[in-house]
Amino acid sequence: GKILVNDQFISREEGSIDIEDRGYQFGDGVYEVIRVYGGKMFTGKEHLTRLFESSKKILLELPFTQEELTAKLQELMEMNKLHTGTIYLQVTRGAAPRQHQFPGQSKPVLTAYTKEVGRPEEGMNKGMTATVADDVRWLRCDIKSLNLLGNLLAKQEAMANGSFEAILHRDGTVTEGSSSNVFIIKDNQLHTHPATNLILNGITRRVILQLCNEIGLTYKEEAFSVEELYAADEVFMASTTAEIMPLVQVRDVPVGDGKPGEWTKKLQVAFKGAIQ
Ligand code: PDD
Repeated sequence: GKILVNDQFISREEGSIDIEDRGYQFGDGVYEVIRVYGGKMFTGKEHLTRLFESSKKILLELPFTQEELTAKLQELMEMNKLHTGTIYLQVTRGAAPRQHQFPGQSKPVLTAYTKEVGRPEEGMNKGMTATVADDVRWLRCDIKSLNLLGNLLAKQEAMANGSFEAILHRDGTVTEGSSSNVFIIKDNQLHTHPATNLILNGITRRVILQLCNEIGLTYKEEAFSVEELYAADEVFMASTTAEIMPLVQVRDVPVGDGKPGEWTKKLQVAFKGAIQ
């Protein structure tokens, strides 16, 4: 397969990154993960719009338009005959002598590659487990930044505990997952943290809120507490790769009857309709 480096399609072995690339040294860059179903990008436009928004928030001017980038990614997908999978892409501020302040001159470095990844059917059917962890990240979680250590430490702890996801909280208020958004359903109403600086406004999250309207599930974009999480009828997480993933146990506590909930399953069905 080929990878994309700036505007060149090359083989992975041919690619090289400068040791003073600011993405490599500082995590000074932004990224996206886009889902591909049946050879087509799902919500590609929303992902690329968010990439441009993230770039703007870190004062990184991209040397291409959204249309140009879309065309390149399309080409990459076709070249690699990607059917069901993901496109990962990132842009860094490029290479410059190491200093914290932004360099006067640097050329952003774009890299993108594709990967075959099936839908996570098994987990979606049986549900997964989650831990709860302190959200120790910075206050600009709305930016899809390459700086992910706070997320990684939480995910690592979850995995070491045999859990699939870490649900993060700030002083007892649930924000999101280490690599997903988190939703609860209580008394036939869905709750999820509002799209503030404390969470990434997931594209899957946005699709889900639309689907709520379709299936007649009322929702509130209001923060909820860890206590409310434990008392929920249903809990699920959502992301580009995990889709709508039921969480059937949080720490040692089963959610509801310990099986994926009815509203969660309805949302999964509606989501499947949306991606076809
Ligand atoms: N993660 N919140 C965080 C912290 C995330 O990292 C992600 C996605 C989401 C969900 O966003 P979306 O629905 O747009 O994928 C929420 C990606 C998949 C990743 O880093 O691999």
